[in-house]
Parts: sequence; structure tokens; C-alpha cells
Amino acid sequence: MNLFEVYPLMPVTIKSGKGSKLWDEEGNEYLDLYGGHAVISIGHSHPHFVQRIKEQLDQIAFYSNSIQIPIQKLLSQKLGELSGYEDYSLFLCNSGAEANENAIKMASFATGKSGIISFEKGFHGRTSAAVAATDNPRVTAPCNQREDFVILPWENLEEVEKELRKGRTAGIIIEAIQGVGGINIASDEFLLGLSDLAKKYDAKLILDEVQAGFGRTGKFFAHQWIKDLKPDLISMAKGMGNGFPIGGILISPDFEASYGLLGTTFGGNHLACAASLAVLEVIESENLLMQAKETGEWFIEDLKDLPFIKEVRGRGFMIGIDFDQEIAKLRSDILTNHHIFTGSSSKKQTLRLLPALNIQRNDLNSFKAALVASF
Ligand SMILES: Cc1ncc(COP(=O)(O)O)c(C=O)c1O
Repeated sequence: MNLFEVYPLMPVTIKSGKGSKLWDEEGNEYLDLYGGHAVISIGHSHPHFVQRIKEQLDQIAFYSNSIQIPIQKLLSQKLGELSGYEDYSLFLCNSGAEANENAIKMASFATGKSGIISFEKGFHGRTSAAVAATDNPRVTAPCNQREDFVILPWENLEEVEKELRKGRTAGIIIEAIQGVGGINIASDEFLLGLSDLAKKYDAKLILDEVQAGFGRTGKFFAHQWIKDLKPDLISMAKGMGNGFPIGGILISPDFEASYGLLGTTFGGNHLACAASLAVLEVIESENLLMQAKETGEWFIEDLKDLPFIKEVRGRGFMIGIDFDQEIAKLRSDILTNHHIFTGSSSKKQTLRLLPALNIQRNDLNSFKAALVASF
């Protein structure tokens, strides 16, 4: 049987990883500045992560959400503590798309409405409602097209209010920093304006923190760079499990739970909770929010010295580097000649960097040297 070929593959087979280093089958070393689409938050095979998963596996890997699972409570307590959202509730699922799908459903259940507002260049995943809110016709099948899901221009509050006045909008979904779209940072005024408008028109504000959350930007969530912004729903995945599949939504105290409202077979399983708990424990013990903020700021400033770079944008370790020309060849040269993984985005001139939160400065210097040599 063949694999269904939907992924363009790089000519590399990675066999092992440690921290920000990877090794292929022949033992060649690579540096990872991309974390497999922003997934690696605490570094590959972090010893605490490995130990927690192994210990859990020796006890039990899975039982369904029909019994007491104390490790879910441990996870929600630690998540509340580190994110500052102690008064919110946690629903666990398996991926970013599933998290957004559930967030959109919650907005719809709570308001009794069906419409969703999202934004140009946004990416929210490939399940039915998430993909309808995603600005990429190539990944949206005819069965996902929704007349009441509208994709509006970035930073245009007037357009948002015009749509809200129609009275059909259940929720507004937005990434505080667009990832796939090319590291576009929403302004404070825009996000706070959306929050006000959502309240005014009885719609829910959903912050998609799937890529930007779990410490990537130097705050636990990217929207926490903005004082007083409190979304109704926050979706998470990627860095939450450092490679173990897990997603979730944080739900504000205004929502009421009822049995059967949301559900999943695998979401919140023992192993996934152990993985995510390990991530939070490492973020706390290694002070990784501070590390991502300080080292990220230093690196962004450092890159700005390079005269051939048009613009460097980002916060912490969510960084976009703009060039005058398309970056496909540059990215492939950096991988082939310098063994460094970097990322692209839907903006063809933007190189995207999403390294582990504990990457070291000397590794970032190696990338800078490779960039200079490859340009
Ligand atoms: C902001 C954002 N939301 C949602 C998703 C979808 O996540 P998943 O691939 O885990 O379904 C992604 C994936 O890239 C993302 O970047």
C-alpha cells in the first residue's frame, strides 16, 4: 500500500533528537529552528518528558473519559497556575483543529447563532468549522463552504462591526500573532476593539493560541502581551505536548457545562496528560517564558543588523524574517549546506523560525552565520 501523498517531503530521514539537535540515519547532525511546525517547546526528548511518559506507560496508557482520571486535574491545575487562567475550565482534545472546532461549537451553543468571523491569512485547521474559518481555498472542500463564515481584512474593525450588525455571528476567531500567514502581529487596538465589539453584539471572542501559545512568545499566551484582554475561549495544541498529540480549550466561567455537550474518545488520555504536564513542569523549572522572551528579543535585534534582511517581526521565539525575494531556495540551501531546519509561511518572502524555548544563543549564532553564508 502507498501512502496518500499530500506532503512535499524534504530529502532527510531523522532518526533521533536531543534538545535542538537532530540526527539522521547516517549520524549527520542538524539544528532545529522549526520544531516540526512549532510543536517542540521544551526540546526533543527532554529527559523529564521522557521519564514522565515512560512512568505513565508502565502504569496505564489509556482509559476513556468515563472514569476518574486524576492526572487531568493535575494538568488543569498546573495550566491554570502558569497561564493565570485559574478561573477558566479546560476541555481536552487531540489537535489544534479539534480545539478550534470545539471552541467554535461552544460559541455557537452559547449564543444560539451560527456565523463566525475570521481574518485574511488566518489558519485554524482542517476540520469542518475550523477550515471554513481558514483563509486558504485550496484546503476548503465544497462541503466546508459556509455562507455565514466570513473572512475579513486584518485590522479593520469597521468591517467587523458591519458583519456583526447582521446579528448572525456566534464568534470571532483570531490568532494574536498569525503563524502560517507569516508572523503578523495583531495590534493592541485591534484585539481590544474585537473584544469590545464581541461583547456589544453578543458574540464570543476565540483566541487561537495553537501556534503562539504555551510560552512561544515569552508570555504563556501571545494575547497576554495585551493588558486587560480576556478572551471567552482559548484554543491550544502544538507546544502543549512537545510532540505528543494533545489539544485543548480554555473556557471562561460564563459558559455552562452539561453532560455530553462536548466529547472525544482519546482526548485527555493518561499518556497525553503526562506529556503535557511534563511540558508545564519544564517550562516552570527552567524558567522558559523568561528565556524565550529575553533570548528571542536579543535574537530579533541581532538579526536586524543584517543589511540584506527587509524586516524581522515577532515576539519571543515566534519570528518572521522578510526578504525582497522568495525564500524557497534560501531555505533549502540552509538545510542542505548547513543542516538547519527553518520554516516557510503562506507569504513566500518570509522565513519562519519557531525553535524550542530553551534553544541556546550559540545555536542561534550558527543560524545567523549560515544565513550570511547562504545569501
Ligand atoms: C494557529 C493554528 N491553528 C490551528 C492549527 C491546526 O492545528 P492541527 O494541525 O494540530 O490541527 C494550526 C496548525 O498549523 C495553527 O497554526
